[in-house]
Amino acid sequence: MRADDTVECHVLVIGSGGAGVRAAIEAEKHGDTVLVSKSLAGKGGCTPMAEGGYNAALREGDSCVLHKEDTIRGGAYLNNPELVDILVNEAPERFLELVRWGAVFDRTEEGEWAQRSFGGQRIPRTCYAGDRTGHEMMMTLLERLRASNVSVLQEVSIIDLLKREGRVVGAVALDRNGELTAFQADATILATGGAARIYDISTNSATGTGDGFAMGYRAGAELIDMEMVQFHPTGAVYPYDARGRLVTEAVRGEGGILLNSKGERFMERYDPERMELSTRDVVARSIAREIAEGRATPHYGVYLDVTHLSPEKIEEKLPMMLEQFLAFGTDIRKEKMEVAPSAHHFMGGLRITPRCETTVPGLYACGEAAGGVHGANRLGGNSLAETQVFGRRAGDTAGRAPSRGTRIDTRQLENYRRKLDEFHSGGVNPVTVVKKLQEAMWNGAGITRNVHDLERTLVDVEKLAKKKLLAQTPMNRAECFTVQNMCLVASLVIRSALLRGESRGAHVRTDIFQSWDAANSPYGHTYISIHHAGIEERKVPA
Ligand code: FUM
Repeated sequence: MRADDTVECHVLVIGSGGAGVRAAIEAEKHGDTVLVSKSLAGKGGCTPMAEGGYNAALREGDSCVLHKEDTIRGGAYLNNPELVDILVNEAPERFLELVRWGAVFDRTEEGEWAQRSFGGQRIPRTCYAGDRTGHEMMMTLLERLRASNVSVLQEVSIIDLLKREGRVVGAVALDRNGELTAFQADATILATGGAARIYDISTNSATGTGDGFAMGYRAGAELIDMEMVQFHPTGAVYPYDARGRLVTEAVRGEGGILLNSKGERFMERYDPERMELSTRDVVARSIAREIAEGRATPHYGVYLDVTHLSPEKIEEKLPMMLEQFLAFGTDIRKEKMEVAPSAHHFMGGLRITPRCETTVPGLYACGEAAGGVHGANRLGGNSLAETQVFGRRAGDTAGRAPSRGTRIDTRQLENYRRKLDEFHSGGVNPVTVVKKLQEAMWNGAGITRNVHDLERTLVDVEKLAKKKLLAQTPMNRAECFTVQNMCLVASLVIRSALLRGESRGAHVRTDIFQSWDAANSPYGHTYISIHHAGIEERKVPA
């Protein structure tokens, strides 16, 4: 590659979900900004698939203090309180900004913002646009993006970050033909989302492969709480092709109830106070237990029932669910849905400051790529808010970074050229590796864990990581890098899970007896980087 093939910019944003697009819109106020998407901007990522809503303390009787308390209690007290403060204080402002930009959210008959109940929240706080909230947000953000001077490059896969003198100074990528290209930037933002695709059953789009976690790790950045993987309680269980697809929490927010095959409303046994609107970690585990103990439905799930609601309410509040299940052959106005847990969200991720700086100079992170906001379990509806709050912050901080114009070292690109050649002489189909990885992670590092399964799974994952992958055509090269990233992220999840010798939030160790509850845990964040790994001590408030 010649040096003049390099794209130069002030800010490079990697990822085109809600956080990435919001970051790019902000960064562009300060200088040339390039947004790179491995899919089509606005089509990949999880934002357009997020159905249920956006949390903001807007109604009378609610406050940022209550929102913070709910978030931290729901997060099993592992959240970074400074980041939570930012989330709850800025979420309303960012919501109203989206409205000014044209997003249409539902209102009540009195003209107030319609807000529904979501799990773990004492007050209805989740603003929504029917059950297509993320889609509405994404359409609005894309219009804003198109009206800006951000250069958008689609179907370009960033494969690694480039460093010089200890700083990230850009990235190397493959274009849609599988050819190498390079970016030089004063500031680089990872807004690459999570990695729930490392699990067999997942709500995520195909882009949820953890590329940002892996690239940040290789660049020396620290990741925290990678063991904290959220399983959404309600994913579809059939047809086979739709396994895992999100069945929004809005169904339960609008009054849906969970029943086992014996017709028992089983949440009475697990959280009689909050029932179906308990936190996701509790609901997911309860469903998993009902299934494991033999009270499963014919398709190995539990029932989610809205047939007691009026057909008009279902049509108005849950139109996408109605349509989705009709396509599966179920009319949810008359028949129960079948659902089971599905890997959904990474609470952990790159360690960030309140200004979205990672631990490596020149590198920033926001959205699901960053860790710390949600602690050990995220509340539904906090993620869409996070994309806007921290997307804007990342764009602002990166945009204000000094213009250094540090040249990338084009000799580094030779290493990537060699790797590309290796993929053409490999022998293993990446698809088979992904399948084995997903099954291994589901069985060995899923909703519950123990040391034996974790260690065995780590061995399996490390073997998979060493497979000599085959790229059949240049266009398959990016897939080989992605599969390597997935294996790396899976190993980070397991190594972190082994470090956390307690059950907390989404992380449940069945092999450990503990004498404390989450509020009194002596542990803080797990941390992992190429330099070190461990678990922090936590000073329990007196
Ligand atoms: O259930 C849902 O609609 C998902 C929302 C979220 O993860 O925040």
